[in-house]
Amino acid sequence: TDLKHIRNFAIIAHIDHGKSTLADRLIQKCGGIEEREMRDQILDSMDIERERGITIKAQTVRLAYKAKDGETYELNLMDTPGHVDFAYEVSRSLAACEGSLLVVDASQGVEAQTLANVYQAIENNHEIVPVLNKIDLPAAEPERIKQQIEDVIGLDTSNAVMISAKTGLGIEDVLEALVTRLPSPQGDADAPLQALLVDSWYDSYLGVIILVRVKHGILRKGQKIRMMNTGASYQVDGVGYFTPKMVQVDALNPGEIGFLQASIKAVADCEVGDTITDEKRPADKPLPGFKPNVPVVFCGLFPVDAADFEDLRDSLSKLRLNDASFEYEAETSAALGFGFRCGFLGLLHLEIIQERLEREFNLDLITTAPSVVYRIELTNGEQVQLHNPADMPEVTKMAKIEEPWIKATIMVPDEFLGPILQLCTERRGVQLDLTYAGNRAMVVYRLPLNEIVFDFYDRLKSISRGYASFDYEIDSYQESDLVKVTILVNAEPVDALAFIAHKGQAESRGRQICTRLKDLIPRQMFQIAIQAAIGGRIVARESLSALRKDVLAKCYGGDVSRKRKLLEKQKEGKKRMRQFGKVEIPQSAFLAALKMG
Ligand code: GTP
Repeated sequence: TDLKHIRNFAIIAHIDHGKSTLADRLIQKCGGIEEREMRDQILDSMDIERERGITIKAQTVRLAYKAKDGETYELNLMDTPGHVDFAYEVSRSLAACEGSLLVVDASQGVEAQTLANVYQAIENNHEIVPVLNKIDLPAAEPERIKQQIEDVIGLDTSNAVMISAKTGLGIEDVLEALVTRLPSPQGDADAPLQALLVDSWYDSYLGVIILVRVKHGILRKGQKIRMMNTGASYQVDGVGYFTPKMVQVDALNPGEIGFLQASIKAVADCEVGDTITDEKRPADKPLPGFKPNVPVVFCGLFPVDAADFEDLRDSLSKLRLNDASFEYEAETSAALGFGFRCGFLGLLHLEIIQERLEREFNLDLITTAPSVVYRIELTNGEQVQLHNPADMPEVTKMAKIEEPWIKATIMVPDEFLGPILQLCTERRGVQLDLTYAGNRAMVVYRLPLNEIVFDFYDRLKSISRGYASFDYEIDSYQESDLVKVTILVNAEPVDALAFIAHKGQAESRGRQICTRLKDLIPRQMFQIAIQAAIGGRIVARESLSALRKDVLAKCYGGDVSRKRKLLEKQKEGKKRMRQFGKVEIPQSAFLAALKMG
């Protein structure tokens, strides 16, 4: 296809505004599959994704659309991940397109993620077509939401497309808008190859599959290619595109999006954002915007049954095959034994991996409270990165400690604004901006990542009865007065319960945790002391009295979140307990450690 007949686009939307439903409709109308093969939400291919209703892996589909002008266009629909943890993947997916459909639920309006996505699209110079979805709903207020989009985003909505992805109303208008309003891609077929590596995944039958956008030059089957960032070279075994079925072709031309296969062993060798070039006639420089993916949240994963350690190692290496942004290394904990310290892009990413390990690999795990990555300068000048609170050096050995901060955008109906501001203040937030659009407030805060890593999102949702939406980006590292709080059970420090907190909050959090642990640890035949200490000084103490014969030991579980309860229900099998000295500590205690307020 010549460039003039190609349109590359992404669909951007807040969660649940109808992105997948619209994609399905477009595929149904223009894709290369039969009606009967059409499963709901084709793009969400993994089970977990489907259950969670979110899209984790970016995929792309080539559509053929015969427009009203009589010409047939090649439309490449780029699917983007729907969560903040995958912001960099989103930015690369957008970099592969010239325009976006901005889908906004006409009964809900603009949300935090709508904004985050729009800003990224604007950064990538996208032509943005506003699409108001769910106009079939009685609660839809398309005119009001159009005004809101103009006010909040500053986007002209005079020719916004009104649709119902559910009933199929307006889908034709979406396709026409793509053809008439989006620019066609540009590219020079004679220039040396430059293809953007948008995504990659591991398929157990086909090996690693790489999704690319060819910018310049031609990507051919049989060609020798080189990744400009990693330096690795490969022979291309095949190229093609998805309809969403895989279709093999001889070459991908400039402006096209498609896949390549090259007998690559692990996705870890395919860094998102890398530039693929020709080995013999390389481009002189890579495409702009490459960023290595660095994990920002760490936690320990330990098998409930020590005998499962090797299985866990095996499973982690299999997962890593398909997910280069996830890291792990062996760790030993006095409290939990042999396990792994694992790094993730964010909390959702952590939950996904943990869930896959439990479901797909059938492992019973104990997960320690997540922690951020601290940067420490030792008094001897050495710089270290701290992934585990238990490893924090003594205060006298540290010249300074820095923690990561984020920039968070929260959108909320103004009636809930007060408690939200209070929550941000409690979490050491610094307000940057507060604006209104109708009766919705938009607040921008700088917050330490440490303060949101555990339960901020849950708290936000509960205070706002689910109406607040939240999005964040990593901002910068900043020096801070941080101390390690050690938790002792029967006078012994439990390394897996240690945490880092700001000096001003360390004592009260230590106290809270002791109180909470008192409810979480089942009473035993003897009295147990639960203490919190900061640098050798005991700051809190609770004592758990000995069990009398007539009391059932069924007293833990008071503070377990709903989610955990479900998880526990799922597997009645092994008890998630750890023998610690003479004391049994349940899994929930390790998670409760950082839960605040
Ligand atoms: P994530 O995958 O979670 O990002 O969500 P999404 O934006 O892809 O939304 P999805 O397509 O899964 O739709 C969310 C819900 O809205 C589903 O229950 C859809 O059936 C429903 N929905 C989507 N479009 C429409 C519509 O036009 N009208 C109505 N009434 N419901 C819709």
